[in-house]
Amino acid sequence: MQLCFATNNAHKLKEIRAILGDSFELKTLNEINCEEELPETTDTIEGNSHQKAEYVWEHFHINCFADDSGLEITALNGAPGVHSAYYSGTRNHQKNIERVLNELQDADDRSAQFKTVITLILNGQSQQFEGIIKGNLLHQPRGTEGFGYDPIFVPESHDRTFAEMTLEEKGKLSHRARAFSKLVDFLQSYQG
Ligand code: IMP
Repeated sequence: MQLCFATNNAHKLKEIRAILGDSFELKTLNEINCEEELPETTDTIEGNSHQKAEYVWEHFHINCFADDSGLEITALNGAPGVHSAYYSGTRNHQKNIERVLNELQDADDRSAQFKTVITLILNGQSQQFEGIIKGNLLHQPRGTEGFGYDPIFVPESHDRTFAEMTLEEKGKLSHRARAFSKLVDFLQSYQG
């Protein structure tokens, strides 16, 4: 079955292709000739994930899935959430971290979670798969691996940040891995 993963991120695609094997012919946005930016204009991670998948289904009429992720901080009432990528006004990870640390200066509660929501649309029917990893935010960044908010995020029951872990270690714990594992379980048992 052909299935479009609404991304042009080669790394994400390679990972999921390897897991799904030959039963699904995964296509990128480029491969279905979708050259436009997908809309991401809702105010939730769930909404943006759905909006991207729905756009592909409506314009290209191909079964598809899209993912959207963000960091939700308890003391900031869930911010930056859907605005994680551009929280400082630019897509600069260091500046985004600086803004978060400034806003948390007086906060006792440093708990946060990363969340990924994947929306799958099969024959017009949509469903979502969620992955969450809870943790706490440091006062200073630590580590050089990963991206985004990894240097300040310490997952629960661990003492190193995501940026101090190998890709493999983070890959076993991450919100994205958890959501994708649910999607893969579903697709592997799908008989449609
Ligand atoms: P996306 O939806 O996967 O593009 O993620 C949106 C934004 O959330 C990213 O630009 C990062 O700022 C943040 N983010 C998502 N996943 C992670 C992660 O695994 N580590 C650190 N930051 C992340």
